[in-house]
Amino acid sequence: MSLLDVRGLCLTLDRGHASHTIVDDLSFTLDRGESLAVVGESGSGKTQAALALLGLQAPALRARGSARFEGFELIGAAAAALRRVRGARIGFVFQDPATSLNPYLTVGAQIAEMLELHQGATRPAALAEARRLLDAVRIADAPRRLAQYPHEMSGGMRQRVMIAIALACRPQLLIADEPTTALDVTVQQQLITLLGDLRREFALALLLITHDLGVVAELCERTLVLYAGRMMETGATAHVLARPAHPYTQALLRARPRLDGDTRVPLYAIPGAPPRAGQAGGGCVFAPRCTQAMEVCVQLRPAAQGIGDARRACHLQATTP
Ligand SMILES: Nc1ncnc2c1ncn2[C@@H]1O[C@H](COP(=O)(O)OP(=O)(O)OP(=O)(O)O)[C@@H](O)[C@H]1O
Ligand SMILES: [Mg+2]
Repeated sequence: MSLLDVRGLCLTLDRGHASHTIVDDLSFTLDRGESLAVVGESGSGKTQAALALLGLQAPALRARGSARFEGFELIGAAAAALRRVRGARIGFVFQDPATSLNPYLTVGAQIAEMLELHQGATRPAALAEARRLLDAVRIADAPRRLAQYPHEMSGGMRQRVMIAIALACRPQLLIADEPTTALDVTVQQQLITLLGDLRREFALALLLITHDLGVVAELCERTLVLYAGRMMETGATAHVLARPAHPYTQALLRARPRLDGDTRVPLYAIPGAPPRAGQAGGGCVFAPRCTQAMEVCVQLRPAAQGIGDARRACHLQATTP
C-alpha cells in the first residue's frame, strides 16, 4: 500500500450556477520515504491541491475524489480526524513563513505546543525535544533561540523553525510548499541541503511544491507537472528534466533561468497566459499556448497515457521529443 494514494482529486469553485474547476482529476502516489515534486506556473493549483489533502483548501473550494493516507481517506474526513493527522502524521511547511508563525509566541513555545497537543508531552519534555529539533534543522545556540520571537530571526531561520515544527511529531510525510522561494540564493541552497539530509534522518516522504526546477532536480526522485489544474506529465525527475515528453514541460524548461546561460540572450517566456478558472475549453488546456498543437488538441482532452510511473497527457506521438 502506498503511503499516499491520490485518485481523481478535483477542486471546484461553485459560484451560483457556474462551477469552475481549479484542480481536475489529479492522481498520484507516494511511497514511504519517496519524494515527489509538483511543479507548474503560478495559479496552476499546486497550493490548493496540497491544502485539500489536509482539509485546508480555500473555503470556497469543494474537494471531490480520493486521497488515502496509510489507507485513511482524507477527502471529506471529519474535522477532528483531520486534526489528528495534520501535524502529527503529515507535517507541512507553507508558502509564507512570515504569516505561518505566531508573532506573539516564542519559537520554543510554538514547537513545544505541537508536542503537547499531539503527544501529550509535558512542557519540560517538550522544550528538551524542541532543543533537539533546532539542532536537527541546524540552528546554532538552540537554548537562546528557543526564547526568541519569530521577528528576532532572519527569513532563513524562520523557515528552519517552520521545518522543525513540521517535524516535531516525526511525521511520515512532509508537505513543503515553496519552502525556499522567499529566500536569497545562498540560504535557498542551504535549505535544500537541509531538507535532503532531514529526509534521510527522519525517513520522510516528501511532497514538494515548487516552480523551481533546480530544486526539483536536487531533492525529488519523481516529478509531476501541473498546468491549469491538470496533470501534463509525470515520471522520474531525471527523465522529465532530460527528456521532457510534454510541450508544456519543454517550454517550462526553456523558460528556466540558468546561471551558466548567455545573459545577452533574452530569457524565453511561454507566450500567452494560463486559462482563467472556468475558461478552459473541451480540449487540452495547454493547446492555446502550444507551438505543436494540432486540430485534435483543441477538440479533445488528451487522456493520461504511459508505462508504469511515466505518464503524460498529450496527443502528440509518444516518439516526439
Ligand atoms: N482563497 C481562494 N478562493 C477561491 N479560489 C482560490 C483561492 N485561492 C486560490 N484560488 C484559485 O485556485 C487557483 C490555484 O491557486 P493556487 O494558490 O493553488 O496556485 P499555485 O499553483 O499554488 O500558484 P503559486 O505558484 O502562485 O503559489 C487560483 O488560480 C484561483 O483561481
Ligand atoms: Mg502556491
